[in-house]
Amino acid sequence: MSGHYIEFQHVCKSFDANDVLKDVSFYIERGETGVIMGRSGVGKSVSLKLLMGFLTADQGRILVEGQDVTHFTEKQFEEIRKRVTMVFQSGALFDSLTVAENVAFPMESRGMKYDADEIDDRVGELLEMLEVGQFRDRLPAELATGTKRAVAIARALAERPEVIFYDEPTTMVDPLMAAHVSDLIVRLKQTLKKTSIVVTHDTHLAKKLADRVVFLNEGRVGFFGTWPELEACDDPVLRNFLVQDELIPALDSTL
Ligand SMILES: Nc1ncnc2c1ncn2[C@@H]1O[C@H](COP(=O)(O)OP(=O)(O)O)[C@@H](O)[C@H]1O
Ligand SMILES: [Mg+2]
Repeated sequence: MSGHYIEFQHVCKSFDANDVLKDVSFYIERGETGVIMGRSGVGKSVSLKLLMGFLTADQGRILVEGQDVTHFTEKQFEEIRKRVTMVFQSGALFDSLTVAENVAFPMESRGMKYDADEIDDRVGELLEMLEVGQFRDRLPAELATGTKRAVAIARALAERPEVIFYDEPTTMVDPLMAAHVSDLIVRLKQTLKKTSIVVTHDTHLAKKLADRVVFLNEGRVGFFGTWPELEACDDPVLRNFLVQDELIPALDSTL
């Protein structure tokens, strides 16, 4: 059975009696951006953790970089995680390290692989790219949530990953910073052209980014396709969702 670059094939995942994912299938190709949407608690973060090997599927197959990772060991996932990285919902920066030290951390923890100048250059370049250069010597506690999010993205990019997963990059951030973080992610897609998956409630961001959209609903795939297909679909739940965010006109205004 062949597969795509990143793929869920009939994936099921339960926690005791809580059947979170029930036969979930979707894929993205190399260089594409997939967007996962759906209500809180529907299994979006669980899906990303399955792809990273932080959780294991009960049934189905999971492909990452075209490889079947379903039964990979922790050691094999450590190899994968050198090229496949995740920006956590919490940001998860080290509180006692400065911004620059946080971004340098993944490279420094690789032993002798990078020399000090190389790390310094890379950190400078990333802080510039994410527009957080002026915060390089600050501690995370001194930063706004949106700035922390940008630093977390810089750190995730430190080792030039092939694949990036973003877990709700714009939630819990004030609207102005959310717009800024959205712009950064859109720009990263355009400049770096890395394969990525973005979990988001932000339909406007989703529309800008998505080559393919997965809409999870009650443990199943409510929709999988391109954004134009989503806008054209006649499922009332999905239409309602798009109307709410004014992405498509309400029915009565189209008459
Ligand atoms: N490690 C875990 N152990 C038990 N239940 C979990 C675990 N991780 C997630 N869940 C449950 O799985 C469901 C989906 O969680 P999650 O993927 O975090 O939702 P969301 O779509 O909001 O990201 C929730 O009911 C959550 O309580
Ligand atoms: Mg989540």
